[in-house]
Amino acid sequence: MGELVDQCTKSQKIAGLLSIILSIITTILAFVWASHDNDHYTGWLGGFNKCTIHAVVMILGMCFCYTQALMSFRVLHFLGHDLTKRIHAMFHTLTIGAIITGLYNIIKWHNFKHYGHLSTMHSWLGILLILVYFQNWVLGIISFGIQRLGIPIEWKKKYLPSHRFLGIVGLLLATIVMQTGIAQKNWVDGTNGCMYTFNNYNEQNNPASAYTKIGMGCRMGMGIGILIILNCIAALYALWQFPVEIPQTTYVKPAEKLPEIDELLPVQEIL
Ligand code: HEM
Repeated sequence: MGELVDQCTKSQKIAGLLSIILSIITTILAFVWASHDNDHYTGWLGGFNKCTIHAVVMILGMCFCYTQALMSFRVLHFLGHDLTKRIHAMFHTLTIGAIITGLYNIIKWHNFKHYGHLSTMHSWLGILLILVYFQNWVLGIISFGIQRLGIPIEWKKKYLPSHRFLGIVGLLLATIVMQTGIAQKNWVDGTNGCMYTFNNYNEQNNPASAYTKIGMGCRMGMGIGILIILNCIAALYALWQFPVEIPQTTYVKPAEKLPEIDELLPVQEIL
């Protein structure tokens, strides 16, 4: 992990901070979205019930907590490796709590409404995300969290790149699942969801003139969706491992060979 922090540039740290700010704004807006009453045409979530708790808690977990967990090694490393690792694990565990709460509520809501389970793209992608996220959490805790298990350092080193990769895959999946969830919500509420019909030539050719026909809650939902995408882009930038220029002094020449530049190895790889 220390090596990763060393390779984090200033702009990546700024992207990490931006990602944290975006996740906070998104989560606040999700609470506002949920707390307004829904008259089935405005697109608000309609107060807190089992369905809206699902949406809000999932955004709280998959946007806010997930972002804090991923960004911890990027922006909090000055707290020391051990504390940063604990914060990383804590936020991932909070996300697991959010997933369980959100899933429980939406299943209860489906049962209450007599809606068939797993009948949408959103729900299937949601299950895929949960599987990817859950295995990374379990294997992460086993490999890096419980020292008593005595997992050999070599295994940890081998596993770390996959853990990082699947963590990023989870972020991308979470972004897609939240988008499909918002789309689902914007469609099911009201006869045509957030769609409107245009009444004249001007509205047909200039959508901006009919903008206010889209319910405020719908606009809010779509705004939250855009913020989630921006958050994902900022987080990806912060996590990306850009090639770093290794200073000349850290190179050693392979013995008994001509100093061809391709064969020079960084010291840290040899040690
Ligand atoms: C990223 C985290 C999320 C996961 C893992 C997730 C997962 C799921 C799952 C598994 C179901 C199906 C439950 C069943 O069939 O009994 C579901 C339903 C639903 N979710 Fe999500 N969800 C997430 C986020 C959201 C968000 C942010 C919204 C936004 C409003 C949302 C809105 C809905 C709605 C309206 C349903 C009911 C319709 C349906 O089954 O597709 N979800 N979700």
